[in-house]
Amino acid sequence: MTRKRILTGDRPTGKLHLGHYIGSHRHRLALQDQYECFFLIADLHMLTTKNTKDDILAIADNARAIVLDQLAIGIDPAKVTFYLQSAVHEIYELQLLLSGLVTVERLQQLPTIKDMADAAGLDQIPYNLLGYPVLQSADILMPRAHLVPVGKDNESHVELSRQIARRFNNAYGEVFPLPEPYVIGGTLVGTDGQAKMSKSLDNAILLSDDAATVRRRVFSMYTDPNRISADIPGTVEGNPVFEYHDFFNPNKEEVEDLKTRYRAGRVGDVEVKEKLVIALNNFLDPMRERRAYYEAQTGYVDELLYEGTQRAAAEGRATLMEVKKAMGLTGVWNRISRAAEKRRKKLAVTSDA
Ligand code: TRP
Repeated sequence: MTRKRILTGDRPTGKLHLGHYIGSHRHRLALQDQYECFFLIADLHMLTTKNTKDDILAIADNARAIVLDQLAIGIDPAKVTFYLQSAVHEIYELQLLLSGLVTVERLQQLPTIKDMADAAGLDQIPYNLLGYPVLQSADILMPRAHLVPVGKDNESHVELSRQIARRFNNAYGEVFPLPEPYVIGGTLVGTDGQAKMSKSLDNAILLSDDAATVRRRVFSMYTDPNRISADIPGTVEGNPVFEYHDFFNPNKEEVEDLKTRYRAGRVGDVEVKEKLVIALNNFLDPMRERRAYYEAQTGYVDELLYEGTQRAAAEGRATLMEVKKAMGLTGVWNRISRAAEKRRKKLAVTSDA
């Protein structure tokens, strides 16, 4: 029996950080053994809010970095098809064919579109941004994925892809399995304690940061602002340093001891941070090893993306064929092209005579 499929992806806007790991990529790691995986680099989605020549010039390096980050995490290249969305024109075609199954009003009601426009500082919505979830539906339906691991913020887009799949199947015939969102919990606050971790807010620790950088980042972390000296009782809840300990320090006893002493005003920030640096570096060390292993093979990541993109395109051709057959578009063209060929043959015979 063939395995069920997963599709998910990342916009190539920069390297992955701890927040990506907690919110998304650790789950890919857990799912890769049970499913056939398609992980795309969603550069067409990036173009909905970032489309200058310079943005586009940066895609190749960002795509490489994101694939390498995933290999470093432990994603197995033998189990995953990594591919570049913009190099698979079948996705663009599928998006257009699906776009008749969703209304402008439905898209305008999604809060995510407005949120992305706001975040990008746009006061009007570009056509491609309105269509963002339709493009995402084309991504999902192209390999006929069953499961779509996404963060909470993308759940409504997977719901839309499910609606589109259902409408397609009802209108034209069963082509698509109905994709399920697999919504994964966990958001990681940034080192500033103010907002979700994000590279653009400069509050991130990257998976590719070296030990010294991690140390610097942790020591500049926001903690309990009321605690001006170590003997003042501190607040653990909502304190990013303890949030990180909870996620990344496997020594639960140590974490509980630090919390108890922090609440009682019996430990300094330095000790709490020192132990966090150790925990984070222990967590990142195996990733650093795998990263070094793959980096030593020059061109490996490009080769992986190249092969994966070809595989994805083949998948796309097969799906598009099914889609066009189901819709009857193949038949339209067949009638016209056969008649034209017949005429050509006939003319050739007459001119031979
Ligand atoms: N929308 C995702 C993001 O927030 C990226 C993405 C594009 C995606 N296509 C997808 C995620 C398909 C899941 C499935 O960056």
